[in-house]
Amino acid sequence: MPLLGFGTWQITGREATASTAAALEAGYRHLDTATIYGNEAQVGRALADSGLERDDVFVTTKCPPDLAGQELDTIKRSLDLLGTDHVDLWLIHWTPAEGVGLDMWERFVEARELRLARDIGVSNYRAEQIDELVDGTGVKPAVNQIKWSPLLFKPHVLAQHRERGIALEGYSGLRGGTLEDGTVAEIAAHHGRTPAQVVVRWHLQHGVIAIPKSTKPERIRSNADVGGFVLSDDDMARLDALGRG
Ligand SMILES: NC(=O)c1ccc[n+]([C@@H]2O[C@H](COP(=O)([O-])OP(=O)(O)OC[C@H]3O[C@@H](n4cnc5c(N)ncnc54)[C@H](OP(=O)(O)O)[C@@H]3O)[C@@H](O)[C@H]2O)c1
Repeated sequence: MPLLGFGTWQITGREATASTAAALEAGYRHLDTATIYGNEAQVGRALADSGLERDDVFVTTKCPPDLAGQELDTIKRSLDLLGTDHVDLWLIHWTPAEGVGLDMWERFVEARELRLARDIGVSNYRAEQIDELVDGTGVKPAVNQIKWSPLLFKPHVLAQHRERGIALEGYSGLRGGTLEDGTVAEIAAHHGRTPAQVVVRWHLQHGVIAIPKSTKPERIRSNADVGGFVLSDDDMARLDALGRG
């Protein structure tokens, strides 16, 4: 799974096709969508038009827990819209109102067995909820996608995922004032980079998957252009410390 992906929340219609096309053009090989984003067809259109091999792009979509009982129909509809016979990762979008979704997770396992999803995971789960899911089904999610940024950094949360062998995928890392934070800005200026590049780089150096979203081609390109610099241990420690603020 590529550590860097393109987020597509709140991008719909032609803009979703154009932004996803710009991301693929910029080199992203991982796309993150969801049933509730209402853009799977547009993301799929950009993927088809890119001329890239299907196996060269990692595609994630998600099923909302209110569609419990209709899981297989939901993924088949997602696949139709995306124009593919499988997704690489399928996530329970958030925990159901009651319980942790044991029945839903069983259907997810079935989808994986049917090769409709190469792998399965969850989103917005706490570690204890993941434990409950695993205890109840014997099957571990590959990934947990949660809200994550330097301002939200909690070392124990990272450790909980490591200990369980579950990949941590961060979302909304550029929101919530992170890009305006003085420390982020200072580190960015020091490296001659943008605050967004520093935040993406911080994810990658922690081994956390980052999925920045933008509708602007220039930002889409620059958010992925994070290979030419390294955050020092001191930079990383200063960014981590923002989570204690
Ligand atoms: N599992 C979940 O429950 C969940 C929840 C939320 C999001 N997600 C996923 O995670 C992805 C990322 O999260 P997100 O969309 O909430 O937020 P994000 O990627 O952290 O931030 C997006 C915001 O930052 C702006 N932005 C992007 N690049 C920028 C740059 N270089 N400089 C300044 N501003 C910049 C964007 O505006 P412009 O578009 O105008 O550039 C947009 O307003 C989503 O798209 C979605 O795929 C999942």
